[in-house]
Amino acid sequence: MTHSVPPIAQSNTLMIGDFSARTLIQRFGSPLYVMDEALIRSKMRLYKTAFSHPDFKTTITYAGKAFLTKAMVQITHQEGLSLDVVSLGELMTALSVNFPAERLVLHGNNKSIEELQAAIDANVGLLVLDNPDEFQRLIRLKPQHRIPVLLRVNPGIEAHTHDYIKTATPDSKFGMSLGDPATFDFLRELADHPLIDLQGLHCHIGSQIQSIDAYLETVNVLLDTLLSLSKEGLNLHTLNLGGGFGARYVDSDPILDLPQLLNQLAEAIFAGCRQRQLTLKRVILEPGRSIVAEAGTTLYTVGSIKTTITGKTYVMVDGSMADHLRTALYQAKYTALAAEKLDEPHDQLVTIAGKACESGDILIHQAKLPRLVEGDLIAVKSTGAYHYSMASNYNRLLKPAVVLVNGSTARVIVKRETIEDLLRNDEVIA
Ligand SMILES: Cc1ncc(COP(=O)(O)O)c(C=O)c1O
Repeated sequence: MTHSVPPIAQSNTLMIGDFSARTLIQRFGSPLYVMDEALIRSKMRLYKTAFSHPDFKTTITYAGKAFLTKAMVQITHQEGLSLDVVSLGELMTALSVNFPAERLVLHGNNKSIEELQAAIDANVGLLVLDNPDEFQRLIRLKPQHRIPVLLRVNPGIEAHTHDYIKTATPDSKFGMSLGDPATFDFLRELADHPLIDLQGLHCHIGSQIQSIDAYLETVNVLLDTLLSLSKEGLNLHTLNLGGGFGARYVDSDPILDLPQLLNQLAEAIFAGCRQRQLTLKRVILEPGRSIVAEAGTTLYTVGSIKTTITGKTYVMVDGSMADHLRTALYQAKYTALAAEKLDEPHDQLVTIAGKACESGDILIHQAKLPRLVEGDLIAVKSTGAYHYSMASNYNRLLKPAVVLVNGSTARVIVKRETIEDLLRNDEVIA
């Protein structure tokens, strides 16, 4: 479905592209995920331009876990990025719209036989192995061609971020520790195996990282590892440094100078290789949130407003933790705007709560908004990453539609769930 309207710019009204928040809600319903296509594309282009180097090939692989739909796969394809998929569902979403398999990277810390078989059949460009059990599962499938592989390693680096999104500490569930001699035995086994084309190492140190330091440390650790492997004749030529570059959710989040950071990173890799007399053929980055987070806005309609006897005011909206999980999951912080009262002082401290049966169903703990009444619209900013992709049917709530806005065009890219959708897979027993 495509809609076009003339711009209705009003100073008190939030516009996304040429559409007011109210127009979007009237056309597509509430709550609503809105994605700004131009912003997604410009972020993708920024990555491609800023992370390049004459001495090695660079690949930007969009991490689909942040936000993946058929339309998002198409945008990724059109912008010439590769795509990181982590499940059969993500893989099939990509293949369903003819994303080139050679630009797919399959991840996961416990890939099923079905997922491995699908990756072999599709001939994906890279498979990132996580552990020896997974390797055994892969080999038992007797692939008819050599599988291009990276091993996910865990450099033991502390990225300064929330525990649940810190992924490369020594006790992480992901990858194999570089402090463990078994990791090196496994690398040798992979390198010697006739069905494996071991190309290099992968790591992802965490998410919402705001400075380059942890990346530089990672580069040094990984290059040292490549150097010691090369001394015993095992030459690996590809590094995948994962994603994790921060997005802005609240005013206090720093503004990352991404072009400068990416440029500095590419130069550090080059200098590190030269210092160790190593040659790298390819370096891959896998950004997710930094490409889509700020392109997303969730629109909600205010229902009840309640002030407790302790003086705490809850503004309750028609969504919940089922469409906005990260506050409950990671104590993530967000910014809310009164979408039709932008010119009024946002000076009332309230808690924005959802409609799910959980005390923890809070979208924003300390939001600053003007005085609101039932029917007002709230926009929660920077919800493009890990929102739709983490949405559930908790309380049998229906997932909102996703609309892609670009200037004067607004297209539904995921239909709003219906009660029929919800009931479709249930079976009755009598
Ligand atoms: C292997 C891997 N690559 C890339 C990403 C993307 O991270 P982000 O969305 O923070 O850029 C993740 C996130 O969990 C990941 O696990």
